[in-house]
Amino acid sequence: MSSAPALAFNDVSKHYRGFFRSQWVTALRNFSLRVERGEIFGFLGPNGAGKTTAMHLAIGLMFPSSGRGEMLGHEFGHAPTRRRVGFLAENVSLYHRSAAKLVRFYGALNGMRDPQLRRRTTEMLKELEITDVADRNAGKFSRGMLQRVGLAQALVNDPELLILDEPASALDPLGRMRVREILLRAREAGKTVFLSSHLLSEVEQICDRLAIVIKGRVARVGTLAELLESQDRFVITAKGIDALMFEGSQQNGFIKITVPALTQRRTIEKIWLAGGEVIAVNPIRRTLEDLFVELANQNGGGHSDEAINQEPK
Ligand SMILES: Nc1ncnc2c1ncn2[C@@H]1O[C@H](COP(=O)(O)OP(=O)(O)O)[C@@H](O)[C@H]1O
Ligand SMILES: [Mg+2]
Repeated sequence: MSSAPALAFNDVSKHYRGFFRSQWVTALRNFSLRVERGEIFGFLGPNGAGKTTAMHLAIGLMFPSSGRGEMLGHEFGHAPTRRRVGFLAENVSLYHRSAAKLVRFYGALNGMRDPQLRRRTTEMLKELEITDVADRNAGKFSRGMLQRVGLAQALVNDPELLILDEPASALDPLGRMRVREILLRAREAGKTVFLSSHLLSEVEQICDRLAIVIKGRVARVGTLAELLESQDRFVITAKGIDALMFEGSQQNGFIKITVPALTQRRTIEKIWLAGGEVIAVNPIRRTLEDLFVELANQNGGGHSDEAINQEPK
């Protein structure tokens, strides 16, 4: 059982009824993705790409229109498995209770009992630095404070898998750093983290792998290095040659020549023939932001809400 991935979406589609009930909106189309145990997996995409929908399907808040998926080796929606998972919703909305009571409530909901529940609640309030306000009504908290209570709630049952929908969106830089620490520690303890974000810098810093979802489909998946290395172009650094001859740029006696992968070898030979020396050959690294924009443009904008008049198959 332990070899089962943390999450597996197999050809999942999800259609919603649109504003006009005769219309349908496709949030996910033939969406497939695997998240392995023990990784921090970043789920990136523009607003409306389908990230929240995928997460809600995984924890069984709703069902796919077609396709299926598994969480920790069980079909999406398997109630006992839900207890082994911590979930932070995108828009944390909490009842008018004290922060401490809320965290306890979610722990109890996941089958925890005292004294373990009391101990974990205290620990999580401390970890998220909300001990001082633990007795105050969370219904009146700012978004950032609510997000902290939401995270404490998601962590209280010491889950094997953490599903976090935009966990840092309302946090200040310090809060974000705190969240990163918590997630890295969770990974050290062997847990899996699946987090969505539209903030690229957030995932860049901690994710082992990431997927970019555009219009309800996985456009790219891999490690950050894999995603950013554009296979098609290289920069050759050389010296002892004439920059003009190679259409390169000159800097401190070094010539940098950008070439497509196909002509890389020919260019190197040409440099040698001209009596020059090749210092380095590096694939061009894009930023995650470049890639994000490029993928969104290729797919005509990114979000998936074009409404159609028939229920999709
Ligand atoms: N309950 C709903 N009813 C109708 N359409 C929805 C509903 N929830 C989401 N959508 C639509 O599905 C698409 C994906 O939304 P969502 O999963 O929230 O994306 P993301 O989390 O990436 O921003 C969007 O076009 C959104 O408008
Ligand atoms: Mg969302």
